[in-house]
Amino acid sequence: MLIEEHKSLKPFNTFGIDCNARYFASVASVTELKELLAQNTHPLFVLGGGSNLLLTQDVDALVLHIDMKGITVLSENNGQVTLEVSAGENWHEFVLHCIDKGYGGIENLSLIPGNVGTAPIQNIGAYGVELKDVFVNCKAIEIDTLKEYTFNKEACQFGYRDSLFKNEGKGKYIITSVTLQLTTNEHKLSTSYGAIKDRLAANRVTEPTIKNISDAVIAIRRSKLPDPAEIGNSGSFFKNPVISTEDFHKFRLSHPNAPFYEVSPTEFKIPAGWLIEQAGFKGQRFGDAGVHKNQALVLVNHGDASGTELWELALRIQKKVKEDFRIYIEPEVNVI
Ligand code: EPU
Repeated sequence: MLIEEHKSLKPFNTFGIDCNARYFASVASVTELKELLAQNTHPLFVLGGGSNLLLTQDVDALVLHIDMKGITVLSENNGQVTLEVSAGENWHEFVLHCIDKGYGGIENLSLIPGNVGTAPIQNIGAYGVELKDVFVNCKAIEIDTLKEYTFNKEACQFGYRDSLFKNEGKGKYIITSVTLQLTTNEHKLSTSYGAIKDRLAANRVTEPTIKNISDAVIAIRRSKLPDPAEIGNSGSFFKNPVISTEDFHKFRLSHPNAPFYEVSPTEFKIPAGWLIEQAGFKGQRFGDAGVHKNQALVLVNHGDASGTELWELALRIQKKVKEDFRIYIEPEVNVI
């Protein structure tokens, strides 16, 4: 297997940051992955789609590019289909494949950057649907022992942009495939999200299909979110903060027009994009590091921003939001 040295990671992260990997290898099968892990003596850095990553320095490790491909139908009956998808499949291409086959359940997750194997790590979610809603299990190799494990939904401990793989399991496993259960008919459509409703109404769609919803989501995302192929970014840079009901009521007194979502009887979520916009950062640019003009939650690389410049901007935003609202916003991306 080819192990390259001093390889630029620019094509492998959606921020388009030009940092180098000390060593780099791509693995296209579980066998190759195990072989490489068995012989490797370097620290390891696992790279999926590179869409949730901010590189602020060269990576002094063996960067492992997970490139396994394949979609297998495990079973299909009673209006349900169970599919095992290899970790290196591109998420959005997989969504389009499902729409094409008439498989429902992930149409709201159209156009999310990244790979299938990294989707469970942060339990990707958008427009009222999360990966966990269709998740059956994922297979993973334990790095230290090379043992293969299957983690079911419960074992993955999914939360909002959270899972086992960001907590106790962090750095321990490499996800090699994900199994999902989708519908082949009587799809359970999720159209309650305001922007989807509006888009369907504008398109005069009264009885939406999964394709109509996917098209609506694609149009909404394109209108708000920058395309990483055109301008470097990693989607939402911060998580939406969750605050206690008590803090929420205090916050509402001084900010009666702020949008919010009730998460549970004891917790409320405030859109970080709103907080960042109110703090004055929307559309701002500091050199080549900037805040997107249509969605303040997204930091962008206008060209040659370094990871450090983007990180300094993130810290500045975090500090100002804290000062203005007494709310701490936590990065969603992995900062290296
Ligand atoms: N808002 C502003 N200013 C902004 C951005 C948003 O005032 O610059 C307000 C909007 O007007 C709206 C509210 O904030 O009232 C929510 O905005 P939006 O619907 O765009 O959703 P979000 O909460 O900002 C989350 C996800 C997105 C996902 C959308 C849709 C997180 C961290 N982000 O954003 O996920 O697409 O909901 O479900 O939860 C991603 O993870 O990369 C991502 C894009």
